[in-house]
Amino acid sequence: MRTGAAEIRVATADDAPAIARIYNEGIEDRLATLETQARTPEERAAWLAARGPRHPVLAALDDEGAVVGWGSLNAFNSRPAYDHVADFSVYVAREARGRGIGDALLTALEDRARAIGYHKLVLAAFPGNAAGMRLYERHGFRTVGVYREHGRLDGRWVDVIVMEKVLDEERPANTRLDKP
Ligand SMILES: CC(C)(COP(=O)(O)OP(=O)(O)OC[C@H]1O[C@@H](n2cnc3c(N)ncnc32)[C@H](O)[C@@H]1OP(=O)(O)O)[C@@H](O)C(=O)NCCC(=O)NCCS
Repeated sequence: MRTGAAEIRVATADDAPAIARIYNEGIEDRLATLETQARTPEERAAWLAARGPRHPVLAALDDEGAVVGWGSLNAFNSRPAYDHVADFSVYVAREARGRGIGDALLTALEDRARAIGYHKLVLAAFPGNAAGMRLYERHGFRTVGVYREHGRLDGRWVDVIVMEKVLDEERPANTRLDKP
């Protein structure tokens, strides 16, 4: 059943164990990321604490208030010319996938990105990640290109697809972001 998330809010340090567990599921799946190193709650707590206001982490909750997904806006490139671009991550717990939670998280990430003043979101993914591809296409991301044999996972080459979405086509090209 497609129920989406009961709530999406900014993640706190208390969410670190759930975020680590959900991220580790994505790492183990070998469908979501070239990351291979499992995370601990402590490492994710430090990761959360190090993020500034331009790089929020959102948590998706189910009806009982349990964290069943997370998403983040990530730095794309430290050069000021790229200030208007954010990369993002979205991960849903295995048992909660296919219920609209990823869709709700990406909508919330886009809303948050617009509110911060980002002009564009970009992502890198595996073309074989059917759920991810469907999600991004539904949200209007376009394919920039495919890096062939770009990563190596478990002794095999992996292609990586790069996608982008301009959030506000009307935004003047010379508008600057307000720095926090
Ligand atoms: C990719 C992911 C975030 C999508 O979140 P989700 O909550 O499972 O997806 P949703 O229920 O919101 O569905 C989004 C779209 O994908 C489709 N979809 C969901 N699961 C699918 C699957 N296994 N195969 C094909 N399409 C699928 C849905 O039908 C929906 O499309 P629609 O709106 O046209 O019907 C989630 O599956 C996940 O966390 N996967 C592991 C981590 C990962 O791959 N993250 C992305 C890294 S690039």
